[in-house]
Amino acid sequence: MRVALFSSKRYDRQSFEAAGARGFSYIEAHLGPETVAAAAGHEAVCVFVNDRLDATVLERLQQLGVCLVLLRCAGFNNVDLKAAQQLGLTVARVPEYSPHAVAEHTLALLLTLVRKTHRAAARVREGNFELDGLLGFDLHGKTVGVVGTGRIGRCVLRIFQGLGCEVLAHDPFPPPEVTAPYVPLDELLARSRVLLLQCPLNADTHHLINAERLARMPRGAILVNTSRGAVIDTKAVIRALKSGRLGGLAIDVYEEEADLFFADHSADILTDDVFARLLTFPNVLVSAHQAFFTEEALAGIATTTLANLQAFAETGRALHEVRG
Ligand code: NAI
Repeated sequence: MRVALFSSKRYDRQSFEAAGARGFSYIEAHLGPETVAAAAGHEAVCVFVNDRLDATVLERLQQLGVCLVLLRCAGFNNVDLKAAQQLGLTVARVPEYSPHAVAEHTLALLLTLVRKTHRAAARVREGNFELDGLLGFDLHGKTVGVVGTGRIGRCVLRIFQGLGCEVLAHDPFPPPEVTAPYVPLDELLARSRVLLLQCPLNADTHHLINAERLARMPRGAILVNTSRGAVIDTKAVIRALKSGRLGGLAIDVYEEEADLFFADHSADILTDDVFARLLTFPNVLVSAHQAFFTEEALAGIATTTLANLQAFAETGRALHEVRG
């Protein structure tokens, strides 16, 4: 089968070729209404987090002869699954590709924010060895709340238990193997000095962290989001940062990231005023959706995507299908 791989970067091509991909066209543009025509001549499209597969795009794909959508990510919030099903398109994802990559990045963001190592490194480069302004706090002994205890959340739980934190969890469908105490969301918010979001984006989790819930958190609490941007209401978070209610924010994802992330905009005028405001806070740390970005994860994404493709080509069913 011929596959049009959208949102292609050099590292995608490398990892797919290393995993033995054949018949792939690598297209730099995101998939969307303006670019869907590039899928002509392919039976499958391979897409990433900021490709937009709404009903219109899916209908066009079907008209072009595409029958398989291969997501090279775990989340599928960017695909209209109902429309795909009605059109007879199979959608497959990579449910697991090193959950450690995302869990470890969560830790990296949190430690950087709390111990201000990014600011310290910049100071030292300037010959400034002053400590004032770099005061942090121990994570040991602090209460850490984890929202979502799936593959990534479970790695996160283990990491923070290992650091000697009191770890609380919230998940409407707690997996039986998890030993952390589960508490209702309101209790988790009220008790957590650090709140870590590891849940998927869906109708229930859209703006899960809003003004009302931020008001329930202890003053000065730290929020880390490595799940999906729209799980937090960014404007409400900015108000909470301005008032000091929130003591720090680390995000790897942003609700309007599609037009920003994965590209070099360093010479462009930033037109997103909400994002621009976020960047002005000394206690805000942003990485551009790189939590997944490890050698192990890229290899896992390519291998599982090719396994989905092969299974579909041989049996008409992909290994990891998602349905509406
Ligand atoms: P998973 O499907 O293994 O686990 C998700 C867990 O969240 C499940 O246990 C589910 O019951 C729980 N959940 C669902 N609704 C919830 C709610 N309302 N409140 C609390 N928990 C809820 O998914 P996995 O692999 O752990 O990934 C989680 C999310 O992380 C993905 O959906 C994706 O959006 C994001 N992600 C981000 C990456 C990045 O690079 N920043 C990379 C990979 C995933």
